[in-house]
Amino acid sequence: MESIKAGLLGFGTVGGGTYSVLRRNQEEIKRRAGRGIEVARIAVRTPAKAQAALSAIVTQEAGAETALAAGAGSLPLIDSDFDALVRDPAIDIVIETIGGTDRARELVLAAIAHGKHVVTANKALLAVHGMEIFQAAHSKGVMVAFEAAVAGGIPIIKALREGLTANRITWIAGIINGTTNFILSEMRDKGLDFATALADAQRLGYAEADPTFDVEGVDAAHKLTLMSAIAFGVPIQFDRAHIEGISKLDAIDIKYAEQLGYRIKLLGITRRSAKGIELRVHPTLVPSSMLIANVEGAMNAVAVNGDAVGMTLYYGKGAGAEPTASAVVADLVDVTRLHTADPEHRTPHLAFQPDQLSDLPVLPIDQITSAYYLRLRVADEPGVLAAIASLLADRGISVDALIQKESREGEGETDLIVLTHGTVEGNLRQALAKIEALSSVKSPVSLLRTENL
Ligand code: NDP
Ligand code: HSE
Repeated sequence: MESIKAGLLGFGTVGGGTYSVLRRNQEEIKRRAGRGIEVARIAVRTPAKAQAALSAIVTQEAGAETALAAGAGSLPLIDSDFDALVRDPAIDIVIETIGGTDRARELVLAAIAHGKHVVTANKALLAVHGMEIFQAAHSKGVMVAFEAAVAGGIPIIKALREGLTANRITWIAGIINGTTNFILSEMRDKGLDFATALADAQRLGYAEADPTFDVEGVDAAHKLTLMSAIAFGVPIQFDRAHIEGISKLDAIDIKYAEQLGYRIKLLGITRRSAKGIELRVHPTLVPSSMLIANVEGAMNAVAVNGDAVGMTLYYGKGAGAEPTASAVVADLVDVTRLHTADPEHRTPHLAFQPDQLSDLPVLPIDQITSAYYLRLRVADEPGVLAAIASLLADRGISVDALIQKESREGEGETDLIVLTHGTVEGNLRQALAKIEALSSVKSPVSLLRTENL
């Protein structure tokens, strides 16, 4: 059978990686998909740059002739006409790897309108415009596949959407941003400063075009929002997510956490309760003995809890050219296999039938339940501990551990670390307002959430 024809928008880290993997493993992919998958056309802003990158891939590829003979086809047309690509009648699948939300939205919607299937790695696009895009794809009877958009090479969308369909999923917690996990690891293990670690992540192709999306937790929230929708059958509601990144994380808290047997990770957490859905990204203390606490570098890990299966854990490379390409190409194979299937028989984009989405609300952050790490700078004098414990008790907050650090000679102040049991965040905030008003408390309380999963 003739190869299915794909058109590639963008030829950067993910676009280049996708072309390379597809070409190198063409023979194996063809045996799986039932026909070859050929990138027939590439649209980029600077064709000369893409031409040079493509030539390098072809030249470096060991056994390129074998791959070509097995159906990789001739070399693609490269130009800067993005609109022509998404309209091209010879193209069956459009692969979007340009990133961003504006031009990508226009091109994806145009591709859908022209009856093309779409494969995208763009979590920002889907977190912000996903409902519109999936609705358009549903109406047109085409697929929009996005495995690469969440946790890079880990097939977590497939697991949530297909492997776990028997379950009522109760929560998901994951390290879903490779850049921030890389930065935290490099700072802790090698003592690198934040800026150097971030520059390394950018050089290695992990970071977003705008790395503040990584550092401030926005990229993780994009991914979490997509997983939450698929897990609980709710609309994609990125604007309701609570987001805290790692830029304000204080080194002293990383140190104290280690001393207490915890590591700090940027976690995305979504949990379903009778009242609603928690949807939050923030630095989180996790016990060092847990597997997820030991996920280092650009690796990602996602824990999913289902009522039948219990907890499952998915681990792998969360960023970079070929790990991400692994997910893009898997989607290409899926789309190729299902290309001729009746649209009604395909897996729904968001796992649940589009007319069966629930209106369970996303809970504001003051209604979530968590345990907490609190660091207080206090006067080193009698009665302080008792006053703080009493204000916490007034709000029904139970203290798990309370540690007073030794004050330095002549300083008269010390750090007090309080670990609480689970409580509603709003209660804790009320107690903290009273605690911060005490004359013995010398600066605003540093608050981090802790999770035992
Ligand atoms: P790159 O910056 O490496 O590549 C982007 C490509 O798209 C380049 O060819 C660039 O052209 C082109 N491009 C960028 N903006 C536009 C635009 N407005 N119009 C037309 N072309 C444009 O990005 P990545 O490959 O890293 O990321 C691509 C997508 O994949 C993003 O959505 C990202 O979030 C996602 N992703 C990335 C991962 C990674 O590890 N890097 C992992 C998972 C997902 P030019 O070179 O001329 O600027
Ligand atoms: N910037 C993202 C990360 C790329 O660091 O995880 C993968 O989605």
